Amino acid sequence: MKWTMWHEAAVLSCLFFFLAWPSPAESVQWNCATCKGITDRFAEKYAETEKGGFGGGNTDWEETYLKEYRRSEVRLLEIIEQLCTKDNHACHALVEEHEELLEEWWKKDESPHTNLYKWLCIDHVKACCPNNTWGPSCRDCPVGREKVCSGRGKCDGDGTREGTGACSCDKGYQGALCEQCTVDHYEEYKNTTHVSCKVCHYGCNITCKGPGLENCLGCHTGYNYVQGQGCIDIDECQRETPAPCPQGMYCVNIVGAHKCFQCNEACDECYGPEANECKKCRDNHVLVEGSCEECDPLCKGCTGVGPENCVKCDVGKGADMVEGVCIECARPCHGCNGPGPENCKRCRMGYKQNKEGICEDVDECQSMCRLQHEVCTNTMGGYDCECEEGYKKNPRGDCVMLLKDEVASEVKKVNMFEKYMKPNKHPKKMLTGKLRVEL
Ligand SMILES: *[C@@H]1O[C@H](CO)[C@@H](O)[C@H](O)[C@H]1NC(C)=O
Ligand SMILES: *[C@@H]1O[C@H](CO)[C@@H](O)[C@H](O)[C@H]1NC(C)=O
Ligand SMILES: *[C@@H]1O[C@H](CO)[C@@H](O)[C@H](O)[C@H]1NC(C)=O
Repeated sequence: MKWTMWHEAAVLSCLFFFLAWPSPAESVQWNCATCKGITDRFAEKYAETEKGGFGGGNTDWEETYLKEYRRSEVRLLEIIEQLCTKDNHACHALVEEHEELLEEWWKKDESPHTNLYKWLCIDHVKACCPNNTWGPSCRDCPVGREKVCSGRGKCDGDGTREGTGACSCDKGYQGALCEQCTVDHYEEYKNTTHVSCKVCHYGCNITCKGPGLENCLGCHTGYNYVQGQGCIDIDECQRETPAPCPQGMYCVNIVGAHKCFQCNEACDECYGPEANECKKCRDNHVLVEGSCEECDPLCKGCTGVGPENCVKCDVGKGADMVEGVCIECARPCHGCNGPGPENCKRCRMGYKQNKEGICEDVDECQSMCRLQHEVCTNTMGGYDCECEEGYKKNPRGDCVMLLKDEVASEVKKVNMFEKYMKPNKHPKKMLTGKLRVEL
């Protein structure tokens, strides 16, 4: 049993090895970056093993040892062991495959600085190409204006055995050799060896023949073409119709567009955000030195602050105009020629003019509130109509007797009321069924 498992594991790992590591018989296309990584790491480890594991290295014995160690097999193996990180299978495969090349280079070359990269990756492993060449046979990258891709792009596969060799141009450049400007760029400078492109102004509808708004070949939204001037930013805020902003907002022109912002709450229309930038004031406000001020509370519209500047008086608030000033009429009045109940124009409902011309309260209890068990209380301008104690209004409005336990709870309510609330004129009448009529 044990033997079988071990055997299977061995077979599996062999299979894995076979799949993961390319067979030496084929000519493998090694990845340039992998190879370059190895040579970089080689240089690093070469430097690290310089001292051969000794700290100072100044005894005779050490010097002799180091001389032998410098280009020894021991040192090479030490470096090779550390060339790949644990999981880098491609690296392990390449080193395994080409260990002999590394040994060859190690023996033949006395100087560690002779380029291992060129010798190994370009010339022998053929994983990389010299700079500015590409592909399996290291063909030249396209040269424009004396530089690869005119110096304005990269050659695909540059320095490797891969790629297409085509230029991929920097932003703003195009063409097989990156020798032209893209449609949204213009030629800022050009000579036989050099071209430089700059992006067109934002105000252009993409294309232009030079810098600024005057060289646009069409205008972006929010710009108008003006002969001789080019694209000019439209000031949408100057537009009459349709209004650039909705009521209660003001307009700010920005390049190629405009924005609307809320007016101060005192304004209906405005030029800016402050209360003193109103063009038109909100209802019952008046523009005073650029600021919207509230009209006097007795006014309905005004031409200035104070009750003397009302356009009309607010009748709903019981106001009337007396010698150009809005005053608050006495409560019994409906319109007045002055203060007090003796100056009413007419009496309010619930009041009646007496012989002296004064509006007096009408005692409605003389005629109202006559149902059985009803109790009437006259008030200023009105009356209260309630049920007697021990009675309450039913849905039809009649006063009906309270049931026994209802009485108890009502009495309790009254007691609570008397205890906690401010004294009431008619505590006994605070029973349910209260009807207050105000005219
Ligand atoms: C090749 O190009 C690489 C990357 O651009 C650069 O680091 C290297 O110095 C170049 N080599 C030569 C020999 O010019
Ligand atoms: C072209 O312009 C570039 C950049 O200004 C300059 O370095 C180069 O010498 C110029 N070449 C010629 C031939 O004028
Ligand atoms: C910008 O150009 C395109 C293509 O010519 C055109 O369809 C579009 O209407 C232009 N836009 C403006 C705002 O003129």
